[in-house]
Amino acid sequence: MDRIQNRNLKALQNIFVNTGNSRDKTQRIVQGLLTWFSQNARDLPWRKTRDPYAIWISEIMLQQTQVITVIPFWERWMRELPAIQDLAKAAPDRFLKLWEGLGYYARARNLQSAAKLICEKHGARFPHEFSDVLALPGIGRYTAGAICSIAFNQPQPIVDGNVIRVLTRLFGMTGNPKEKTVNQQLWATAGQLVEQAGKLKTKSRDNCSHFNQSMMELGALICTPRQPRCPDCPLQKCCTARQENRVDSIPNLIKRTEATKRVFTAFVIEKNGRFLVQQRPSKVVNAGLWEFPNVEVAEGGASQEIHPFEIPSRAMPLCTIKHSITRYRITLAAFRATLRTRQTVQSGAWLAMAELQQLAFTSAHRKILNHLAKVEPA
Ligand code: ADE
Repeated sequence: MDRIQNRNLKALQNIFVNTGNSRDKTQRIVQGLLTWFSQNARDLPWRKTRDPYAIWISEIMLQQTQVITVIPFWERWMRELPAIQDLAKAAPDRFLKLWEGLGYYARARNLQSAAKLICEKHGARFPHEFSDVLALPGIGRYTAGAICSIAFNQPQPIVDGNVIRVLTRLFGMTGNPKEKTVNQQLWATAGQLVEQAGKLKTKSRDNCSHFNQSMMELGALICTPRQPRCPDCPLQKCCTARQENRVDSIPNLIKRTEATKRVFTAFVIEKNGRFLVQQRPSKVVNAGLWEFPNVEVAEGGASQEIHPFEIPSRAMPLCTIKHSITRYRITLAAFRATLRTRQTVQSGAWLAMAELQQLAFTSAHRKILNHLAKVEPA
């Protein structure tokens, strides 16, 4: 055999070795995760249903919020708005109130826009076709994949933070997962795995659903960002990062941009037992939610000098709220003041404590209200 033929043969052998290995690895991952999930899955309320509407709501709530926080919100939402039509018809104040505390309210608004669209275009039946699901407002590739796989057991891949961690470590992927080629590789790998799960010849009709959920679950419980529990991992024997002692450096994520500090002053103004609140205008962050009159000030600035309305000079400190949203670390200093009858202020609503409790407040201002309610019961 000449040298060229010899090289080709080696390449061919390598292909077979690699194919054999990777097919074997795929099967071990799929089987290992399905078995592990059947024994270790958390008992979460949205796992007891195949209703695509219920699963959709859970996925949207879980986008920026931890499982433990989401549970009571999801349960209450499903009690109050159990079907797509209920959401489509709900007044914004109603569903925003149900969302209050979860933040990122655009998610709730998109839910209602999508519910209306499902009623108009799909006869109030949640669409089964992946492309139709993806076309709904607020639903991206991950969420469409999650709904189609979990509710309909379709072999649709999902890639989110948890899955990125699991796959990059399992396959020793050292590139930055945000880069296009690495990201494409992740989606392709997730696709091969869930397809393999769908082909398994077991009695379960839930293999795609359970496989995708098992990757989320492993990422949440075992393959965590810091101090992963590798000794408890069902896949430790086929994890490249573990074998190569690189678990701490994979995934290779660039550092987050540094947090920006912002300082606000809010005024809790009382007149005859009522408090002034204002609704945020449309097309701004937290549109339609309620808050106390407030103003942003430079850090360390003399806030009371620049408030835009007439405040009594003897405003008393009420509380200071710390709140984080996206990259902002917000400090909100609330002052309390009583207005004399003649004084005028900007427009807003003067409401009693019991009425305030019915409104949907921004998270930071809800904390002020909770503080106020303690010192000023309804
Ligand atoms: N995170 C995102 N989707 C989830 C789900 N269905 N269960 C648990 N955690 C999740």
